[in-house]
Amino acid sequence: MTLLQSELPIARIGDLPVADAPEPVSGRAIHNSGFERKGRDFYATPSRVTEALLRHVKFRGPVWEPCCGDGAMSKVLSAHGHEVVSTDIVDRGFGTPGVDFLACREVPGNCRSIVTNPPYGDTGSQIGQSKSSVAMLGFLQHAMTLTDSVQGQLALLVRLQWIAGKRAADMMSAGPFSAVIVLTKRIQWFDMGEKTNTAQHHHAWVVFDHEHPAGQPPAMLFA
Ligand SMILES: C[S@@+](CC[C@H](N)C(=O)[O-])C[C@H]1O[C@@H](n2cnc3c(N)ncnc32)[C@H](O)[C@@H]1O
Repeated sequence: MTLLQSELPIARIGDLPVADAPEPVSGRAIHNSGFERKGRDFYATPSRVTEALLRHVKFRGPVWEPCCGDGAMSKVLSAHGHEVVSTDIVDRGFGTPGVDFLACREVPGNCRSIVTNPPYGDTGSQIGQSKSSVAMLGFLQHAMTLTDSVQGQLALLVRLQWIAGKRAADMMSAGPFSAVIVLTKRIQWFDMGEKTNTAQHHHAWVVFDHEHPAGQPPAMLFA
């Protein structure tokens, strides 16, 4: 259903659900990276990753970065001329803290797009915890519902392997899946000089557009 502009569900930042749970300390090791997984899955995305997305996708209207961390993605989006609303469940010194994305029922302001690198595991959400692959499905479903309400767009940075899972594939195929942008160079999340280990995972942007023509297959792109 196409909503008229005047019917769009608009939330002000002050209306968004605020989370007050303390940040958990996690001792779970992240594969072979040599680093402990950070509380509530904080990894700042290198700017080249967001720039690769913006080379391929034009976003309509203001963009919501709902897991903004320290603003790594938001800053690139702003530098490319986008109006950006930045929120996070944790206060990382950027944007509006204390906003639990999974508890949000509306997009803030007049945002038409959601762009983020979501948490892969421990979200700290009041909505509940799940294993990372399942948590990502919940995140995708929720983001899809929110962007549907504004006929908008959604871009999520995910592990390439995650796309191949049956449930992820089914969910993506059922939505307005418009593009997958495979990053051919692995993301180095941490720089520890010569002690830095080789990154284990390839990543990709999965992009959905609620104005994508029905029946048109998603574009497969490389960056
Ligand atoms: C992998 S980091 C990515 C940060 C930023 N998007 C970037 O790419 O640089 C994930 C971020 O999601 C936030 N986060 C985790 N669960 C959240 C939730 N339920 N609602 C909002 N933010 C959440 C974390 O605090 C963390 O800053």
